[in-house]
Amino acid sequence: MSIHKEIKKVTTHVLLEMKHKGEKISMLTAYDYTMAKIVDDAGIDIILVGDSASNVMAGHETTLPITLDQMIYHASSVVRAVKRALIVVDLPFGSYQGNSKEALNSAIKIMKESGAHAVKLEGGKEVKESIERILTAGIPVMGHLGLTPQSIYKFGTYNVRAKEEEEAQRLIEDARLLEKTGCFALVLEKIPAKLAEQVAKEISIPVIGIGAGGGVDGQVLVFHDMVGLTHEFNPRFLRRYLNLYDDIKGAVGEYIKDVKSKDFPNSSEQY
Ligand code: KIV
Repeated sequence: MSIHKEIKKVTTHVLLEMKHKGEKISMLTAYDYTMAKIVDDAGIDIILVGDSASNVMAGHETTLPITLDQMIYHASSVVRAVKRALIVVDLPFGSYQGNSKEALNSAIKIMKESGAHAVKLEGGKEVKESIERILTAGIPVMGHLGLTPQSIYKFGTYNVRAKEEEEAQRLIEDARLLEKTGCFALVLEKIPAKLAEQVAKEISIPVIGIGAGGGVDGQVLVFHDMVGLTHEFNPRFLRRYLNLYDDIKGAVGEYIKDVKSKDFPNSSEQY
């Protein structure tokens, strides 16, 4: 029997058990009550209230503009919907890089005001102190290495990271450090599959990949991409399970046609 089917409430310990039993972990983003309810009812293991909300919900070009209060608004909407999944919330850009006290205050604010279960932050050794301090408050921390979108202006592009030996080595060292510091899991974004597999084999905490191949312990996608609500973003790693952009656009077109032609509402659709 898979752990996934038995578990009524996913915790960080359950995820660790999944890794050790070789059961893959499923993770998707959600930012609002209605979608989070569907994703949770379907049986997802982790819901990430990602700062990708800045892109897909607010229409910004990057994840940088979203604020701590906006993340809390999204997270508390998700929390109200979810019964089973572990809910992880991104610490947004500017809420933890200043110093470890600021990081702790931001993490506490998220946990207190949203009711989520854990936070995620981007980076390796440069955020070690912040992670340590957040952990002292009993808040579980998920790491994020590889393509870290909050540093997009440093990278300059959204291309695959750690293709060169030097950067790959740095990533391995950072992954080891995050494990040692006490992160309960790690996201690896857009790096070569071989490297991601090596990291997942080497460290004992679950490694969740996005564009990092199948050799890791689980997969995460942005919900809006996976169901095809977005349609202009087409990276190689994205598998679309629906094409909701076309479906919804078609439905709206039908509605407009029916209103204009006076077909809607008909006699049974009124009082
Ligand atoms: O914000 C986000 O959606 C993320 C995932 C891409 C992992 O960090």
